[in-house]
Amino acid sequence: MPEIALTQTPAHVRHGSNIGQPLTRRDGVLKVTGGAQYAADHHPPGMLYAVLAVSSIARGRVAFLDVNAAKAHAGVVEVMTPANKPALAQDPDEKSNPFMFRLDLLQNDRVRYANQPIAVVIAETLEAATEGAALLSPRYDTERARMGLDANESFVPAGVGVGNPPEAHSGDVEAGLAAASRRIEATYETAAQYHNAMEPHAIVAAWDGDTLSIDTPSQGLAMAQGRLAGLFGISPDKIHIRSPFLGGGFGSKGLISGPQVLGVMAARMVGKPVKLVLRREQMFGPVGHRAPTRQTLRLGADADGKLTALDHRTKTTSSTFDDFFEPASDISHTLYASSAISTAHEAVRLDTGTPLFMRAPGEATGSIALESAIDEMAQACAMDPLAFRLKNYAEVEPISGKPFSSKALRECYKQGAARFGWQRRPLAPRQMSDHGLLVGWGVGTATFPALMFQAEAKAVLRQDGSGVMEIGAHDMGQGAWTALAQIAADGLGLDIDLVDFRSGTSDLPDAGIAGGSAHTATAGMAIHNAGADVVARLADLATNDDRSPLFGAGNAGVIARDGRLFRRDDESRSESYSDILGRAGRAQIEGQGKSAADPVAQSAYAMHAHGAVFAEVKVDPDFGQMRVTRIVGAFAAGRFINPRMVHSQLCGGMIWGVSFALHEHAVMDPRSGRPMNPNLGEYHIPVNADVPSVEAILIEERDAHVNALGIKGVGEIGITGTAGAVANAVWHATGIRVRKFPITLDRLIVPQSS
Ligand code: MOS
Repeated sequence: MPEIALTQTPAHVRHGSNIGQPLTRRDGVLKVTGGAQYAADHHPPGMLYAVLAVSSIARGRVAFLDVNAAKAHAGVVEVMTPANKPALAQDPDEKSNPFMFRLDLLQNDRVRYANQPIAVVIAETLEAATEGAALLSPRYDTERARMGLDANESFVPAGVGVGNPPEAHSGDVEAGLAAASRRIEATYETAAQYHNAMEPHAIVAAWDGDTLSIDTPSQGLAMAQGRLAGLFGISPDKIHIRSPFLGGGFGSKGLISGPQVLGVMAARMVGKPVKLVLRREQMFGPVGHRAPTRQTLRLGADADGKLTALDHRTKTTSSTFDDFFEPASDISHTLYASSAISTAHEAVRLDTGTPLFMRAPGEATGSIALESAIDEMAQACAMDPLAFRLKNYAEVEPISGKPFSSKALRECYKQGAARFGWQRRPLAPRQMSDHGLLVGWGVGTATFPALMFQAEAKAVLRQDGSGVMEIGAHDMGQGAWTALAQIAADGLGLDIDLVDFRSGTSDLPDAGIAGGSAHTATAGMAIHNAGADVVARLADLATNDDRSPLFGAGNAGVIARDGRLFRRDDESRSESYSDILGRAGRAQIEGQGKSAADPVAQSAYAMHAHGAVFAEVKVDPDFGQMRVTRIVGAFAAGRFINPRMVHSQLCGGMIWGVSFALHEHAVMDPRSGRPMNPNLGEYHIPVNADVPSVEAILIEERDAHVNALGIKGVGEIGITGTAGAVANAVWHATGIRVRKFPITLDRLIVPQSS
């Protein structure tokens, strides 16, 4: 278990409830001083370096690799290819559930996408391994790559995301369109994006007989452990994964990737610890991406501006060998009321790596098209875009008809608009300017489902007055070390500095996957329940002992706070944990907790977080250069465990929304199928100068249905709605509606209308 030295908690939050306090990151000092050890920082004795050789073609087979040249290079120890790789206990192309993605583990000479691993060179130094990989000089039998949304005949996938139905309908959309007094139809395109976490996928793997010890970033320790156990034919408890810190995950570290498994295979092959770290360009292929989409929306509205029809169709892409389809149309199930709604997906299979969850899969992509189309419809109705959204506010979830467990979206619109100054917005475009730049304001609605997975936790109270909480949770940078420790402290009734919060390794209780914005709710509820369990056991000791001032109070009759149990009906009667355990002759007492979604509540209520994002852009009318100058987002997402971390998540999400609108675009060569900009010089993401002012307003909801703590999750919602708000602001500045993302300046250079 890695030691994490905790920063001091500010004095003013020491007392009372930890939940809701804006504690600073407890691992912050370690991170900024370099004390936090990331996977690639590990150097076990005798470690060798592995470097991937990857395919430069997208489709065909590897005809020749100059293994002899690579092996002859000084320092090269071994070259792992399909011919000599260690045997696996499971076919990496086997798939028994939707979360089990097919991996490229040198199973044969086929090439299914560019940057697919085709060999691994293992050497005494990184330089020797890198040079050895270059010396392989592969020759290929090349087949023509199928690239782009029109490359192939499309089909309707059996499921989108990880198994949602590909279509949904309520009412009669064609009748709704026919009855409408205003109609729009528009097609929007979003670009492929690749996860570019600051930390690339990395692994240090060491075998000791049949025991495997690894350092690697993971958003899902137990699932990674299970997958490795299957592939190597060993029991999961023989696999120890340490993942205390991730330099970002965004979905691409949710399931263990092929390159990470190749690092384990390399270590097995040479019988020594091996480190394998992806180079930036190698992340453009084998570790997932967000697929491009083409989305067509048809909307109809009556004379009052009420939607009579909403039809949202998505065309997207997946790989030739696996099945992740971006569920972009699904957002139209939940966001606006309309007398008829229809959503559908179709797809083509391309010679790319398999797409994967990428921060707000579905909602991020879908909200761009939906929020642009809603704006176009508002314009057609000559209505203010915010007034139009309020006119079509969904009081219940539209297709399912379920009530929302909570929904403070109206409050988000209100507070966001007030803070932004929306009421001063002229209706017509091209009305505002600043020093010769055109100024525009746009709004977008944010939404993301409130999910829960399964987790367990273990709690301990010790006679010395301290406590322990154990859960194999994941801190990708979102603040799990901090927010979950706050829940632990409250659950144990202890000051946070008296809680030894243990997390980030696979030998701790399973925290589920840190994905779907559900980690705080899922892990948090297991922690909360474990705390309640250990406190109840402690209360049993006291309330059944006639020497205790709590004797006879019963479990329900005590509350835990500040390391003491108090009688609920008479708080002057209390006893410290130390005294209770000491008298019972116990050094410590243990409890367990589990969490899972409540199926009864889930079938009764629709559970979503919401938000409203307001953006200002300034556009140079001559050169088309545009800048987002201001963003205000107001978000309602249940209870906020740590408002400082929440604010950071929401701002990070909104900045990614700016990136979606204006920057990120993986350009694929249509002939070779290779990514043409697999580096952070040419694959653009926003820098500080691109986002001068971002504000998040937090609107707390009391939600009695999502879970007992009322947590909805904030990891993904910030990215939704924002790109649409930016696009709508660009239209408002220029009068030009750009429907292809990212919006680039060439699209804004047109002859001036007047
Ligand atoms: Mo997220 S895309 O569920 O890590």
